[in-house]
Amino acid sequence: MADVTLFVNGNVRRIETGPDESLLSVLRNKLGLTGTKYGCGEGQCGACTVLIDGLSVRSCLMPAATAANKKITTIEGLSPNGNLHPLQQAFLDEEAFQCGYCTPGMIMSAHSLLSANPNPTEEQIVQQMNGNVCRCGTYPRIVAAIHRASAAGGKKQ
Ligand code: FES
Ligand code: FES
Repeated sequence: MADVTLFVNGNVRRIETGPDESLLSVLRNKLGLTGTKYGCGEGQCGACTVLIDGLSVRSCLMPAATAANKKITTIEGLSPNGNLHPLQQAFLDEEAFQCGYCTPGMIMSAHSLLSANPNPTEEQIVQQMNGNVCRCGTYPRIVAAIHRASAAGGKKQ
């Protein structure tokens, strides 16, 4: 076990972790940030997506210690004062979910895209979101939500 410092949603968090513990496990089980979901645990579904220094990462595959001293953003970090991020608002407005289990990972992947490319084409959205699985099949609405967030300035924050 080692002491590791994480910067999560603008806060400094010190945790004890071993080499085999994933960032997803630490976020959910040690820091109580349960917005990030466990889906497959194998990097295949995207439910566990968070941002590390602004880029989308599958937190189920990343050892927590590897994220030390990097800027980690989870879905909770997008609305620190209770004001929804444009992407969250767009997902609501487009009703881009059914059960909602995939939604945090979808939004974090979309955030990474809009940060790099504020006005993506449909093809670019589909390409970016390709690794995020929605078992409820809300893909067309998710694409529409990302277009809506893009128009509303979803790259902000
Ligand atoms: S839980 Fe991480 S990709 Fe599925
Ligand atoms: S809304 Fe249910 S898995 Fe996507």
